[in-house]
Amino acid sequence: MDKFIINGGVQLEGTISVSGSKNATLPIAVAAAILADSASVIHNVPNLRDVETLCAVLEVLGATTKYKNSTLYIEPISRLVHEAPYDLVRKMRASIYVLGPLIARLGRAKVSFPGGCAIGPRPIDLHIKGLERLGAKIQIIGGYIVAEADGLVGAEMLLRGQYGSSVGATANVMMAATLAEGTTIIRSAAREPHVSDLARFLNAMGANIEGIGTSVLKIHGVKQLRGTEYAVVSDDVETGTFMVAGAITKGDIFVKNAVPENLTAISEKLTEAGVQLDWEDDGVRVTTPRQLQAVDVRTDTFPGFPTDMQAQMMGFLSVTPGISIITETIHTDRFIHVGELNRMGADIQVDQNSAVIRGVPRLNGAPVMASDLRAGAVLVLAGMAAEGETTVSRVYHIDRGYESIEKKLASIGADIIRVNDYGDRRRFPYHEPQYLLVHHTPHRR
Ligand code: EPZ
Repeated sequence: MDKFIINGGVQLEGTISVSGSKNATLPIAVAAAILADSASVIHNVPNLRDVETLCAVLEVLGATTKYKNSTLYIEPISRLVHEAPYDLVRKMRASIYVLGPLIARLGRAKVSFPGGCAIGPRPIDLHIKGLERLGAKIQIIGGYIVAEADGLVGAEMLLRGQYGSSVGATANVMMAATLAEGTTIIRSAAREPHVSDLARFLNAMGANIEGIGTSVLKIHGVKQLRGTEYAVVSDDVETGTFMVAGAITKGDIFVKNAVPENLTAISEKLTEAGVQLDWEDDGVRVTTPRQLQAVDVRTDTFPGFPTDMQAQMMGFLSVTPGISIITETIHTDRFIHVGELNRMGADIQVDQNSAVIRGVPRLNGAPVMASDLRAGAVLVLAGMAAEGETTVSRVYHIDRGYESIEKKLASIGADIIRVNDYGDRRRFPYHEPQYLLVHHTPHRR
């Protein structure tokens, strides 16, 4: 298992580029593989473990995938398999995205029921409710979701749960509804940038979706979808993470490919804390010319502050003078990073779904462990701001959602290296072969 060794205290300087959105790529790849009847070419696809895992799932279902130079080529075959086994689904919850499309295309699906994960229990009742409204008959048998449908029919539904709208349920139902008979109306639909990007991709394949970017999606069913060529939107969470990297190191960086309308809540909170953001056509310059101050943050569905940026923001606020409070309303147990930040000298106390952060003058380097993707990202940020050496272990969590994060950060001055189990140290720039995702050839990171 690889580790990162980071020597903190460097002010980052230069231009860092954002890759395509992980959370848009995953459902887009599913739609291309299962809903379309011909091949798709998808550009700006990040080189990530989660994309690789999803491609393995799609290959088991009968599609062919090839990845090279940020382009994913997906060929659906006419005789798709309807079963997504536990061994693959357990590796990544987003595999649940195959459920709706399989029902729509094949009239049946058997998909392993995804479990909880490090960020808390993650139910799928809204996915099931929405697909049942379209006419699917769904049972849970032996740990599997077993679904059948004799043709889906459009329906009107409210996809809202205890924690608001659901990204996954909106995407799953929207994909299934593209091939249903008649019109589906999803009220309280998720509006996250990756949901809108999926909708745009489906329309490029020939779907007829109205209301993209709003909380009411109207999907007029069509008979068939064809493959298409498309470029995935840039990753808002990676962008936000780099913006925090600039701010936490008191650097002067330009984050290239940042999309302002997808980052309003993050930008607003950083600005309120005193960070200077200067937007240009192709990105944003991040500097900290003023005294920083504490801010309160409450996560919410888009356009609110994203839960996927909560940990990174907490890292930043842990070294920002004053007392900040972060309230997590989406994944209410998502505080596993707090213990690790406190090991580095932060002063954070959690009370139910809120964290009280008393800004400290500095963090101290320490050995820490990534427990999930964003909890891992904040440790890299904290390590860059800390005095001395930080070792972040279990970086495979970070590799799930950040493309070559250490290379990108090193290119703007961070002192970060990747070390593998055998103690081989790799400092950027190093040669890493491009890989091809063909018949799920395992890729060693
Ligand atoms: C997506 O997960 C993202 N994953 C998550 O990003 C992100 O944290 C989350 O949306 C919220 O923005 C992908 O896009 C692959 P939800 P998803 O359904 O779809 C509850 C990351 O770090 N809920 O919007 O699984 C749920 O428990 C990852 O990149 C139900 O109650 O999230 C949560 O409290 C982690 N019933 C809330 O809704 C359901 O049927 C939002 O979940 C579904 C969800």
